[in-house]
Amino acid sequence: MDKLLIRGGRRLHGEIAIAGAKNAALPELCAALLTAEPVTLENVPRLQDVATTLKLLRNMGARAERSEAAPETVAIDASGVTSPEAPYDLVKTMRASILVLGPLLARFGEATVSLPGGCAIGSRPVDQHIKGLQAMGAEITVEHGYILAKAKRLKGARITTDMVTVTGTENLLMAATLAEGETILENAAQEPEIPDLAELLIKMGARIAGHGTHRIRIQGVERLHGTTHRIVPDRIETGTFLCAVAATGGELLLRDARADHLDAVLEKLREAGMAIETGSDWIRLKSSGRPKAVSFRTSEYPAFPTDMQAQFMALDCIAEGASKVTETIFENRFMHVNELVRLGANIVVDGHTALVQGVPKLSGATVMATDLRASASLVIGGLVADGQTLVDRIYHLDRGYDRMEAKLRGIGADIERIK
Ligand code: EPZ
Repeated sequence: MDKLLIRGGRRLHGEIAIAGAKNAALPELCAALLTAEPVTLENVPRLQDVATTLKLLRNMGARAERSEAAPETVAIDASGVTSPEAPYDLVKTMRASILVLGPLLARFGEATVSLPGGCAIGSRPVDQHIKGLQAMGAEITVEHGYILAKAKRLKGARITTDMVTVTGTENLLMAATLAEGETILENAAQEPEIPDLAELLIKMGARIAGHGTHRIRIQGVERLHGTTHRIVPDRIETGTFLCAVAATGGELLLRDARADHLDAVLEKLREAGMAIETGSDWIRLKSSGRPKAVSFRTSEYPAFPTDMQAQFMALDCIAEGASKVTETIFENRFMHVNELVRLGANIVVDGHTALVQGVPKLSGATVMATDLRASASLVIGGLVADGQTLVDRIYHLDRGYDRMEAKLRGIGADIERIK
């Protein structure tokens, strides 16, 4: 199992180009199943969850290859799909495999998808995905750990999910593009990855309006065609690097970054004392002096994203003053707390709230990654800690970050991968 060895205490300076968004790439790769024509996606990040999704598509009989010439470009041809299914051994490594359910059902009228297990941050049920597809006429049973779905042709429906669900909205949006008649998704998620998915689907011939708001209207069409689409930059990778340099001190220029997708985080970073300038596709952060402690509460977009909670908490650990971090989306997303405490942080968890008392210094130690964003939080902890930090089980990090240690080394971090 790979580890990251970090020698902390260095200020960071330099420039990083942000990769395409993981949480846009995953649904958009699955959207290619909706047509028999080739779909080309550009700016596809190089990370494990994308590799898993390509394997899943090939497993069904689709062609899904990164181009040799431009490794950020992926071509998918789903004309040859023979088995519309997602087996347990692949789904257990990546819950987002559930995103094949809507497309397979819409195009092939059937799908067999392993129920995604829970993960470190919560039970992660998919009841809303199933409820919505049943409302569109699908017959769905769950047996032996598999979702068995059938539908001659899905019918448009008006669907209100019990809570805002990102992949739930994405699955129903994709399914509705080929359904008969109109579908209205009420209580839809507004995360930027959803309008990006909608733009891809519209380029493929889908008829969608309201994407990016809580009400999305889709008029079903007979079929979709191929297209080329460039994936939106990753707002969470962006926020992660901003928190890292905010914590270490220094200056960072992020290129291909969308400041307008990160308002809540930029606001909190300014509150922490950071000087931040932004342009249409860049963000510059200057961090001098000790950050001020900032309280925040996660919620659905456009509020503070749950996927930035662990990283910003790492910043609060060395800030001046006390802060309160409240996690409202997942039931168990404080797995990084105990590991940050091993680095010398002063954090007390009380239910969905963590109370962080900023300390002047962290001290390097061996820590263990438990989930994707917790890993990023520990890397940030290691970058500011005195001495050496060894982050174990960084396969969690590799699932969702595109060559993180290389990018950090590029701005002066002393970080290396130990095989
Ligand atoms: C997506 O997960 C993201 N993953 C997550 O990012 C992100 O943390 C999450 O949205 C919230 O923003 C991808 O986009 C691939 P939800 P998702 O459905 O769709 C409950 C990362 O770090 N719920 O919006 O699975 C659920 O338990 C990952 O990149 C149901 O109860 O999250 C949670 O409490 C981690 N039933 C809440 O809703 C359902 O059918 C929001 O979950 C669906 C969801």
